[in-house]
Amino acid sequence: MTALVDTGWLRAGAHGDLADGDRREVTLPDGRLVLLVGAAGRVFACAADCPHQDSPLCDATLDGTVITCPLHFWQWDLVDGSPLGIAELPLPVFEVREADGEILVRIEG
Ligand code: FES
Repeated sequence: MTALVDTGWLRAGAHGDLADGDRREVTLPDGRLVLLVGAAGRVFACAADCPHQDSPLCDATLDGTVITCPLHFWQWDLVDGSPLGIAELPLPVFEVREADGEILVRIEG
């Protein structure tokens, strides 16, 4: 379940539920899907679909903070969405913070 808090932050579940390698999709109030990813001991949030041809990234592989799309193997750094290797476009990412054990995703600003 998700809920808006403060200005522009979305509650996206318990922080402890996302270990390294875990993923979970959350739906923003405007209908966009965001993928939460546990990686390198942190939680990251990025667009749920690949910016290349919209393949779902829920089945992407992870190596540290590098996420690889399973369809054509474009890669990005989850820290800032920067493209790596053959990727030609950045991956939209969202700021994440933890408060009282919950994951908060910045969806505005
Ligand atoms: S659809 Fe993801 S790299 Fe092509």
